[in-house]
Amino acid sequence: MVEIVAKGGTPARVQAEMLAVGVFKGDDLPSELDAAAGVLSEGDFSGKKGETALLYAPDGLAARRLLLVGLGDKSSFGLDDLRRAAATAAKRARGSVDEVAFVLPTSEGSAARVAAAEVAAEGAALGLYRFDRHKTGEETRELGAFALVHDDEGTEEGAGRGTKIAAGAILARDLANEPSNTATPEYLAERAREISDRYDMGLTILDRAAIEAEGLNGLATVGRSARNEPRFIVLEHRRGGEAAPVVLVGKAVTFDSGGISIKPSAGMEDMKYDMSGGAAVLGAMESVGALDLTLNVVALVPATENLPGGDAFKPGDVLELHSGKTVEIVTTDAEGRLILADALSYARRYEPACVIDCATLTGACHVALGDHASGLMGNDDGLMDEVRKAGEAAGERAWPLPLFEEYTEQIKGATADLKNSGGRYGGASTAGAFLKEFADYPWVHLDIAGTAYGKKARNAYTPKGGTGTPARTLVEFLRGRARGARSER
Ligand code: BES
Ligand code: MN
Ligand code: ZN
Repeated sequence: MVEIVAKGGTPARVQAEMLAVGVFKGDDLPSELDAAAGVLSEGDFSGKKGETALLYAPDGLAARRLLLVGLGDKSSFGLDDLRRAAATAAKRARGSVDEVAFVLPTSEGSAARVAAAEVAAEGAALGLYRFDRHKTGEETRELGAFALVHDDEGTEEGAGRGTKIAAGAILARDLANEPSNTATPEYLAERAREISDRYDMGLTILDRAAIEAEGLNGLATVGRSARNEPRFIVLEHRRGGEAAPVVLVGKAVTFDSGGISIKPSAGMEDMKYDMSGGAAVLGAMESVGALDLTLNVVALVPATENLPGGDAFKPGDVLELHSGKTVEIVTTDAEGRLILADALSYARRYEPACVIDCATLTGACHVALGDHASGLMGNDDGLMDEVRKAGEAAGERAWPLPLFEEYTEQIKGATADLKNSGGRYGGASTAGAFLKEFADYPWVHLDIAGTAYGKKARNAYTPKGGTGTPARTLVEFLRGRARGARSER
């Protein structure tokens, strides 16, 4: 990852190969950057969002190059726009210089300045992200450092936090992008072990025998026919004394072929991303450890492949899940809810303050909300609102979908308590209603089928492939909870 540093001084005096400055639409440049004023009067650059202009050896500047970055309208400018502007500057600098110095737009108040430094650092690190570890031959030049120009103590603090938050999201992206021949359940367990070593977290890995012994039958059943055996990963960050933990649950189907109810082959390669929920949870734990948040957090990641085979589970099968509830399999392609149901009932032993699960659960959610928001469901309005706000702040929107009684009716079974599909209509909500049967604590479910990965770049700091969503939402939520716990003491 690019090194993010804070650099004291005024824009005109900063020594850098490239100085990047954001310009609002219709605004003049600060007088010390007069040299660039010509570009504005010529109309080459208007300050529109995402627009850039590069000038060489500008008069009166210590920097060798001046990059102007459009910020758009000042009145509607928000922190996510700053993430994008920093990403735009970092990517424009990559390839031509080793270091770019980015001038933060002035903001009132020290808290606002820390927040600005934080999101700029995030934007730069996330924008520069590439998944190229499997490419041979072609050498790509990386940016060495992204410097935030400051005259304020808080910049360093903000930059440090933004770097740690981005690192978690980048881990989530790396895990999601990694193909399933490498990113097996055991591979995820190894990555969890690294996090636990780095931050002294508790770690329990259940292998196939232990999963069966624990009665995690949904996970054991989905994983039964796979050579790469399932794992149940438990990672515990304990910095909150006796307080009830927040439990995070992430679906990690390292490849979802659909099983016996096999998927069409077109696009099936995308199903390597079906572990994005687990990836985001592990990414969030990386950030939680690095930030050393003062609270208790438990991560549960059921990890498995879903493959057809002589030993595979079949439509019509009935199984008893970890909670004791029975389920009839309508389709082996509705596997996520089976492994999540087990994790949700396993979570009860922690007497959690709340549980948030995230999962690439339904194509129906993608159809409903497109790429623009994760589906947000749950059994507690206050908690749902808290998660929605955290997502908004992180630039990872989530939007409510209902869990009416009628959806629960749709998944009531004939031969068993439940069936694992409620049919085509209302698919995101019937999946949510299924999970709700296993959550007897404040609970939120994020369906990230449409938001966890994309065929093309989503914005300046979100390239194609795994997005890392909702790792930063989870971290933002947990930071809020840690602040709340501190103010109670
Ligand atoms: N992993 C898929 C959901 C999915 C689909 C994620 C497309 C990302 C993109 C999930 O396991 C699945 O197959 N869901 C089924 C449920 C249905 C069989 C009830 C679906 O959405 O079609
Ligand atoms: Mn499936
Ligand atoms: Zn799946």
